[in-house]
Amino acid sequence: MGLLSRQTRARSFNIFNVIFRPAKSIKGEVSVPGDKSISHRAVMLGSIAEGITRIENFAGSDDCNSTITCMQAMGVEIDVDDTNVVVHGVGPNGLEPPTAPLDCGNSGTTMRLLAGILAGQEFESVVTGDESLQSRPMRRIIEPLAQMGVAIDSADGRAPITIRGRPPLTPIHYEMPVSSAQVKSCVLLAGLFADGETSVSEFVSTRDHTERMLAWFGVNVLERSEDARTTISLQGPAKLNARDIVVPGDVSSAAFLLVGAACLPGSTLTLHSVGLNPTRRAIIDLLLGLGSDLKVIDEQNNCNEPSGTIIIGGGLPAPARTVVIRGEKTARLIDEIPILAVLGTQLEHGLEVRDAGELRVKESDRISSVVTNLKSMGAEVTEFDDGFAVKTSKLAGATIDSFGDHRVAMAFAVAVLLAEGESEIVD
Ligand code: S3P
Repeated sequence: MGLLSRQTRARSFNIFNVIFRPAKSIKGEVSVPGDKSISHRAVMLGSIAEGITRIENFAGSDDCNSTITCMQAMGVEIDVDDTNVVVHGVGPNGLEPPTAPLDCGNSGTTMRLLAGILAGQEFESVVTGDESLQSRPMRRIIEPLAQMGVAIDSADGRAPITIRGRPPLTPIHYEMPVSSAQVKSCVLLAGLFADGETSVSEFVSTRDHTERMLAWFGVNVLERSEDARTTISLQGPAKLNARDIVVPGDVSSAAFLLVGAACLPGSTLTLHSVGLNPTRRAIIDLLLGLGSDLKVIDEQNNCNEPSGTIIIGGGLPAPARTVVIRGEKTARLIDEIPILAVLGTQLEHGLEVRDAGELRVKESDRISSVVTNLKSMGAEVTEFDDGFAVKTSKLAGATIDSFGDHRVAMAFAVAVLLAEGESEIVD
């Protein structure tokens, strides 16, 4: 198997290029890192809970570390020992005013969820981030928070954002104009500091980790479905009781390995304790629907989050027609689209993604990043405003640009295994 072979041209501390050679199969047993979305929430909710929260299998990525440093900057004691994190909760009103802008790095989840918590504080704070995060749309959280009575300013709806909370906040009912778990979570977290019922309605059910974890911490979160939409509500002001959390493996990280294994015929791969939350497992269901040799065993439930072991064998039966991902399916697969683009090159009738305009405002413009790199590898691909169509293609080794986007880098780390010839992934 020809996986990562050597590292070249170190350009700075954490920016480097990697050479890859093609592979015949992926074999083995691994545990993917803890779920990023759940790890962020565990630190934030643990910080405003009463008591100590012990987190196991924390995702030690830069993004989740940004959440830790932001909470520490507001006086929360957080001990980190590898993937074990202990958060000494200060309660809903115990955060201290930060002495400098809170740096969310590259992490949209940190910024958007944290804004909901900051909205409920008596002090003024500023959230900011790296160049990519400063270019991402924040009006989607500024508008509902302003409706809740928060004084919130930004230039042009982008970070840095100044937030002056005025608790108790005004409870609102918010109809989500975009399908976004980060926006939903921001409003619900602000709702913890409101005086009365805050509710959020969504037409497409986005990931529900915030709701599940709030319930785990003792908050009464209600959910009702009517007229094709789901409404989530909670009563403020609310208190959270600290509880330990075991973070399942990140199904969005597993996705890269699952697709790699499925596309390389001799593969057999076992992935332990992967999160199987119904709002996140669409990639598994898609691979099953394509007839891939995949099974889920040892299903469990920890801290309101289901998980299980996935065993996958190589080889994909040819689907009869183009695989089309649109509407709710796109929302459910939003972080998996880059790797699905790679999968599309291996399907007899290719794959088309629509309704994915949100991908243009992720860590990079993911539609353009994916299309550019697929073209460099010789794939036949058409770009649309809201997606792309990729035909079955033979991939050739190429120089790939990550565009500074972790999911693009990982998707193409799989694509280059399927290619003919050596490739280099830059940055
Ligand atoms: C996330 C929600 C999604 C997802 C991101 C993590 C979360 O973003 O793409 O990687 O943890 O809530 P949006 O809410 O912008 O869709």
